[in-house]
Amino acid sequence: MTLTGDLEKIHSKYQSILAVTEPYLLTYPGNLDHMNLKPFGHEIPRENIISCIDSTRKDFFNALQMLDKLSFGPVGMPMEKWVFFDCGEMVGAIYGLAVRGDKLDAAILKQYSLPADYTDLVPVSMYIAIPMAKPGAWFGHNLCSANSFLAEHYNFSGLAVLTKALGVKTMNIHEAFGATQWESGSLNIHLQLANMEVHSSYTPAHSFEKTMTYRSHYTDEKLLTALSGTPRVAEEFDFLVDVSDPEFYKNMQKKIEAKEEDYTIVGRPVYQDGKTFLPLKKGHI
Ligand SMILES: CC(C)(COP(=O)(O)OP(=O)(O)OC[C@H]1O[C@@H](n2cnc3c(N)ncnc32)[C@H](O)[C@@H]1OP(=O)(O)O)[C@@H](O)C(=O)NCCC(=O)NCCS
Repeated sequence: MTLTGDLEKIHSKYQSILAVTEPYLLTYPGNLDHMNLKPFGHEIPRENIISCIDSTRKDFFNALQMLDKLSFGPVGMPMEKWVFFDCGEMVGAIYGLAVRGDKLDAAILKQYSLPADYTDLVPVSMYIAIPMAKPGAWFGHNLCSANSFLAEHYNFSGLAVLTKALGVKTMNIHEAFGATQWESGSLNIHLQLANMEVHSSYTPAHSFEKTMTYRSHYTDEKLLTALSGTPRVAEEFDFLVDVSDPEFYKNMQKKIEAKEEDYTIVGRPVYQDGKTFLPLKKGHI
């Protein structure tokens, strides 16, 4: 597939991924009028727009669940299919990249528990977002990529960043909330796209209390810059937090709840002496 317009300028590693994958979109058909089916000119083929109430794509739905399970691994929060359906596909959408079954090694089909003669799409990444009650606001529910278990067969470096940037554009998301763990490697992806305003730093309502709730603002310019190949490193910050510190997130939450201070993470993690630090500024920026 030849890339045109904005995507001609993205880094070659993302262009290489787009050359061997196909985009897909899974949602309730009634949501489609609110989606951009040609994000940055990269059209989602008609047959790859999948309805969550279509009974003929059962194997694809199973493969998506397997992608979630394999990528999150044993420490993850594996999702039941009803969670995909109730909390993703019907109310929001799943955008991702896929490779056709007949172009994949038999070993990979086996990993996904797909039949050897499966020729439909095999999803290698997914971004799930859900609209919130607040008009215009979305919640990023899931992002995952097959890189961790497909690396032997494919070099898909940059798959998650590319998937999130195209997914955000497909769903026309500008104000995005999310919940992620302070020590998650996925911060490299979220922060490659934009700053993250911290709305809660200690979240006992979540299964993992060392979770932050954040808000980011996305624009076309930010999404395309994220794909330029240059890491979004903070040039200025007020302080660095060591994400392994067992106390900082509770102290930060106290200041947020007392309305004494707000915080924004303003650049990708910094790795030093075996530790991970995040650059923060005071205020919402
Ligand atoms: C986290 C995850 C989405 C990353 O997917 P991926 O396709 O390997 O990520 P990308 O290749 O797009 O990585 C983008 C950048 O982040 C870095 N990165 C990715 N995962 C990282 C990790 N765990 N630790 C440190 N850096 C990481 C990459 O090196 C890359 O850096 P670069 O821009 O300097 O080249 C994937 O490992 C995954 O699905 N994990 C399980 C699910 C999960 O944790 N999801 C996020 C929570 S919602």
